[in-house]
Amino acid sequence: MKLPDKVMKEGKAKVIYEKEDGNLLMKFKDDLTALDGLKHDQMPSKGKYNSVMTAHLLKLVADAGIPTHLVSLLEPGLMEVKKVEIIPVEAVLRNVATGSMVRRLPLEAGSRLPSPVIEFYLKDDALHDPWINDDHVRILGLATAEELKRIRELTLKVNDVLLDYFASKGLVLADFKLEFGRLGGDLVLADEITPDTMRIFDAKEFEKGRLVEYDKQIFRDGGSPEDIKAAYDEAFRRIVGEEPPF
Ligand code: TMP
Ligand code: ASP
Repeated sequence: MKLPDKVMKEGKAKVIYEKEDGNLLMKFKDDLTALDGLKHDQMPSKGKYNSVMTAHLLKLVADAGIPTHLVSLLEPGLMEVKKVEIIPVEAVLRNVATGSMVRRLPLEAGSRLPSPVIEFYLKDDALHDPWINDDHVRILGLATAEELKRIRELTLKVNDVLLDYFASKGLVLADFKLEFGRLGGDLVLADEITPDTMRIFDAKEFEKGRLVEYDKQIFRDGGSPEDIKAAYDEAFRRIVGEEPPF
């Protein structure tokens, strides 16, 4: 499909265009970034992998009654979405302690948390997406108390749906990041759900105490291009249920 000439916004992982009817086109890039873009590389067809996985997972949560921005996947790599007003707060939900949580708190990497933990981060590259609390969200005027309550509620609902789904695919959903947008007086789930934005462990290995993951952490940790490709291949197989055709 031919893309409009004018780019509305370009981020690290996607380019956004506006359609004439007001919807948006999200072109998923093949770029891999970490550490606020300091670490940068490419993975052939990554945009196709991530767009197909996002559309698959957004449909799954939409079927469970959670509103999302998805209109349709037009082709691998290109998704049509509704235009929403993005709230610049990243909602991270954790089922397992890992990543920045174990760098910050005295918890063992890979330990299951007694109940899900939700954290908020300010979307601001220059400030390295700082961890913020409800009061910070309020004084920065990022979202109302009511919206924040709704974000928590929707994030927990998404977790309920995805935890069960991933478990049925032999995966432990350790953590993930969501973004929400305002649309017609309510909030909808926006952005992507991909191995870039979550950590997924092999369930069998996890039960044996070994952390084998199929996500971008392998890139963050300096894995080889082959290791990264193998992880995205396996994530795709488990999530979509097909051999990646790209
Ligand atoms: P963290 O442990 O590094 O804080 O990451 C928690 C989850 O959020 C992990 O699944 C990766 C995801 N994430 C993003 O999607 N974008 C980000 O900018 C960061 C820091 C994490
Ligand atoms: N902070 C994000 C990550 O590591 C992406 C980036 O820093 O470029 O997931």
